Amino acid sequence: MRIILCTGNPGKMIELRALLPEGIELGSLADGGLPTELPENGDTLEANALEKARFAFGRCGEPCLADDTGLEVDTLNGLPGVLSARYAGEAKDAQANMRKLLRELDGKEPRTARFRTVIAFVGPDDEALFEGTVEGRILEAPRGDGGFGYDPLFVPQGEERTFAEMDAAAKNAISHRARAVEKAVRYLKDRYALR
Ligand code: IMP
Repeated sequence: MRIILCTGNPGKMIELRALLPEGIELGSLADGGLPTELPENGDTLEANALEKARFAFGRCGEPCLADDTGLEVDTLNGLPGVLSARYAGEAKDAQANMRKLLRELDGKEPRTARFRTVIAFVGPDDEALFEGTVEGRILEAPRGDGGFGYDPLFVPQGEERTFAEMDAAAKNAISHRARAVEKAVRYLKDRYALR
């Protein structure tokens, strides 16, 4: 069985490939003959992850995994949350998103936040959702050039480094995405007897 990873975001793609076991054959959107932008019209991470995976499965007929992730900042009542990708506009510009977040947080406390990933699996006979979160805080200025998106502003609880200052293995050991993938893999192994 091949599973199509339904993301056009290169950062997510690299992490998902590293997190999923080698025994599971993976394909890209291009492998499934799918467009790089999938519809996401929901107002929750769950709705968007399912919409992307259902759309992709409907088009390509192969089992699909889609990830929707948001950064939830407590003092902003959970924003940018489901709006994280387009927080500063349609361009989905990570630098502009971080600048906007820093402006919105200026002078506000606490700066606690979490990344939350929802992964949707859609196959011929089943659909399932898996969630992973990591708690942390938002810095006053970005640090590091690894990772992607909001990583340079996010320090996970119990750490001094931002996700962007960690190497891929260190981020993948504790990340929101790793926790969601772990649950997805357990499900796929049970249901499809994958190794
Ligand atoms: P989406 O899940 O593709 O809608 O992405 C939501 C937004 O969060 C985008 O701006 C991503 O760049 C960002 N994002 C998603 N995952 C991560 C992550 O692991 N670290 C930092 N930012 C992320």
